[in-house]
Amino acid sequence: MKLNIISKESGKANANTLFYVKQSVQFSAVLSEEGEKQVDSVLTGIKDGVFEDLEFVEIDDKPTIFVDAAKERGISSLDHLRMAAFRLANKAAQKQIPIVSIMLADAADEQFKAIAHGLHYADYKFDAYKSKKKERFQVTFEIAAGEHVNEFKKIAEDVAVEQKAVTLVKNLVNTPAADLTPAEFVERAKTVAKYTTGLSIKVRDMKQLEKEGFMGHVTVGKGSARPPFMVTLSYNGVGRTGRGSQDHLVIVGKGLCFDTGGLCLKPPKSMPEMISDMTGAATALAAIQAIATLELPIKVSAVLCLAENAIGNQSVLPGDIFTAKNGKTVMVDNTDAEGRLVLSDGLAEAGLIGATHIVDLATLTGAMVRALGYAVAGFFSNDDALALNIINSGEACCEKFWSMPLEEEYADALKDKFADLKNTGSDAGAISAALFLQEFVPEDTAWAHLDIAGTAFVDKKWKYTDYGATGFGAQTLIELARRMAAGSLAESEYKSV
Ligand code: BES
Ligand code: ZN
Ligand code: ZN
Repeated sequence: MKLNIISKESGKANANTLFYVKQSVQFSAVLSEEGEKQVDSVLTGIKDGVFEDLEFVEIDDKPTIFVDAAKERGISSLDHLRMAAFRLANKAAQKQIPIVSIMLADAADEQFKAIAHGLHYADYKFDAYKSKKKERFQVTFEIAAGEHVNEFKKIAEDVAVEQKAVTLVKNLVNTPAADLTPAEFVERAKTVAKYTTGLSIKVRDMKQLEKEGFMGHVTVGKGSARPPFMVTLSYNGVGRTGRGSQDHLVIVGKGLCFDTGGLCLKPPKSMPEMISDMTGAATALAAIQAIATLELPIKVSAVLCLAENAIGNQSVLPGDIFTAKNGKTVMVDNTDAEGRLVLSDGLAEAGLIGATHIVDLATLTGAMVRALGYAVAGFFSNDDALALNIINSGEACCEKFWSMPLEEEYADALKDKFADLKNTGSDAGAISAALFLQEFVPEDTAWAHLDIAGTAFVDKKWKYTDYGATGFGAQTLIELARRMAAGSLAESEYKSV
C-alpha cells in the first residue's frame, strides 16, 4: 500500500471512494450536478437494501466505491472509519485497482488518521510459515487533502511509525515459542536498539539476575531449558530534544515466551494461545521504538521480563518460597500465576532506574478475559491523573480501557502462613493479581497495570485483525507518552476518574 497526500485529485486515479454514514456521504467530493444525483440514488439504493457495503458504481463516469463507515454497535465513529478503510483497502487489492483516490479535503485530522490506520492494517499478513506466499496487489491511495496537505503528511508519517510498532508486536506474538525464545527476544530487542537512534539497551542473564536478587524472575525462568533474561531499554527524549517533561515513564512488560502453567500444568485447550503471553514485553519494546523514532520530548524506559514457564527438573515447586528484589518473601502457591512473579522484579527495576510513572502491561489473568472479553482491557491504577490519561489516550486510538478497583477488602487473601505473600488470592482473580503487583510498586510512584489477557490475541476475525495478535495497547502507550511529553498530566485537569 502506498499513501500519496496531494492537495487536489491528480486525475490519475482508477476509482474514487465515498464513505457514507446513514444514507449521507461523509466527506464531500467534487461532483457534477449529475454526479450528485447519482450519489443520491445510490444512497437510496443502500437504504432500500439494493446496494451493499463496498458497492462499486459509476459516478461522473468514474468507478466509485461506496464504503459504509457505520456498521456495528459499540464502535466509535473513528473506529468505524478505521474499519471502513480496512475493508476498502482489501477490496481495492482484491480488485487490483492501481490507484484509488479518497477525497478528504473536509476531513478532520483525527478522521484522516483513522483512515490511514485502517489502510495500513489491511497490509498486515503473517505468512512467514507458509510454504507458498501470496503476493498482495499494491494499491496506491491518493488522498486529496485540500488545504490540509502538510498536516496530513505529518500525520501519515506518525501513523507509519505507529503501525510499524503494531506490526512488530504482531510479528513477535505470532511467532511460535520454539523460534521466539527469551534469548531470541533479546536479539530482536538488540536489533531494535541498534536501528533506533537514542535507544540504549541493558541485558541481564540468569546469572546476573540471581546475583542482583531478581528472584521472582529466576524462580519462574529456571524451570526451562531456555533461560530467562531481563532487558532494560532507555530513551532520554529530554536530553535529545533539549525540552519536554520531567516525568520518567517506565513501561514494564510481561514477556512469557510460553506459559505451559509449569507444574500446575494448563489444560491442552488453553495452551496454544500462550504463545501470546509475551505480548506485554512485545508492546513495551514496540512502544519505546516508536516513542524514540517520533523523538517525543520525554524520558521513557522499557523493562522486558523475558522467561518461559516450563516443566523441567529445576522447575519451581508449589510451596517454594523466594525473596523478591524489594525484600518481600513470596510463596508460590500456583506455578501458573507466574506473570506476577516476573513483574514483581520488573517493577523493582523500574524503581531502581528512577520511574516517576510506571505502566505495566501483561496478559495476566484468565479472569480478565472472562470479565471484559476481547474488546476492552481492564486496568488498575493508584493515580487518578494517570488513569484518566490512559482512558483518554486509548479512546484517541480506538482502544478501550476500563478502570477496575484495587479493592483492599481482598488484600488479606494474598497473605501466606509462612511467607509475606502468596501468588494466589481471592476469587476476584484479576483484582488479586493487581493487588499482588501493588506490593512491588516503588513508593511514591504513579502506577497503572494493564491486564491485556483478553485483548492481545483473537481466535476469530475482529475489526481489522485476523486470527492471532491484535497489537492492542501499543498505540495507547505511544499516545500516553505524547500527552505526558506535552505536559497534559497537569493535576488540575484531573479531579477524578
Ligand atoms: N498467562 C495466563 C493468563 C491468560 C489466560 C492470558 C488466558 C491469556 C489468556 C496467566 O499466567 C495465568 O495462567 N493466570 C492464572 C492465574 C491463576 C492460576 C491464579 C489464571 O488466570 O488462570
Ligand atoms: Zn500462567
Ligand atoms: Zn502467563
